[in-house]
Amino acid sequence: MSGIASITSAFADDTSPKGALKIGVIGAGWLGGTVAKLWVKAGHHVMFSTRHLDELRRKIAPLGPNATVGTPAETAKFADIVLFAVPYDALPQLGAALASDLKGKIVLDACNPSATQVNALTQEARQNDVAETSRRLLAGTRYVRAFSAVDATAIESSASRQTQKLGVPIASDDQAALNVVARLVIDVGSVPVITGNLASAKVFQRGGPGFRANTDAEALRNLLKLPANT
Ligand SMILES: NC(=O)c1ccc[n+]([C@@H]2O[C@H](COP(=O)([O-])OP(=O)(O)OC[C@H]3O[C@@H](n4cnc5c(N)ncnc54)[C@H](OP(=O)(O)O)[C@@H]3O)[C@@H](O)[C@H]2O)c1
Repeated sequence: MSGIASITSAFADDTSPKGALKIGVIGAGWLGGTVAKLWVKAGHHVMFSTRHLDELRRKIAPLGPNATVGTPAETAKFADIVLFAVPYDALPQLGAALASDLKGKIVLDACNPSATQVNALTQEARQNDVAETSRRLLAGTRYVRAFSAVDATAIESSASRQTQKLGVPIASDDQAALNVVARLVIDVGSVPVITGNLASAKVFQRGGPGFRANTDAEALRNLLKLPANT
C-alpha cells in the first residue's frame, strides 16, 4: 500500500467529516494563500481573510464560487476550521478579538516567531515552546500545530507531482482534530507526519531537525526518528 493510501485508510473509520468543509484562512499571503487555493481545488469552501478586500477578491476570482473573501472576523464566523498564517506578532490581537467565534473550532497554526526580533512574545516562545505560546494565544480552540515547518513553495510543488510527496509535520493534544488536519494535509497533495502530542511540536519548531526540512514523508520520519506511517 502506498504512503498516502495507507494513511487514508487509517482514517477511514474515524468520526471526522467526510465532505466539503468550511475553512477560513486568516492571513492569505504566501503560505495561507497557497494552502487555501489547494483546498479550494480539493472541493472545500474557503474564505480567505484580508484587510484589503477588493484587491484579494480580484485575485481569487479565477478560483470560482467556493473561494470567498472576508475580514478576519467574518472569516472566523464563517468557518468550522481555521488556519492562521499571519506574522506572529499579530496573533495576540487576533486571538483575543476572534476568541468567541473560534471557541471550540479546530484551529491550525502555521505562525512562527521572527528569528531575529526580540520582544516579550518571542522570548516566551523561546522559553515555553512556540506551540505552547500559540495555544495560549488561541485559547478555547482545538489547537493543532500544522504547516508551520514547510515552505509554501514546497507545498505547491508537492501538489503537482505524484511521487515523493512532501511530509508535513503536525502535532496536537486533540487526537480527533489531528485526524481532521491529517486529511486536510492530504487534500493539499502532501503527506501528514504526526509527531505526537503538542509538546512534540518542538522537533519541528525553528532550531529543531524538522523545521523547513522540506522533504518527503519517509525522509522526515527518519530525520525525526519516528516509526513508519505515523
Ligand atoms: N511563507 C512560507 O513559506 C511559510 C511557511 C511556514 C510558515 N509560515 C508562517 O506563516 C506566517 C505568514 O507568513 P507568509 O510568508 O505567508 O507572510 P505573508 O505573505 O506576508 O502573509 C501574511 C498575511 O498575514 C496578513 N496579516 C498581516 N498582519 C495582519 C494582522 N494584523 N491582522 C490580520 N491579518 C494580517 C496579511 O494579510 P492582508 O495584508 O491581506 O490583510 C498577509 O496576507 C508567518 O508566521 C510565517 O512564519 C510561512
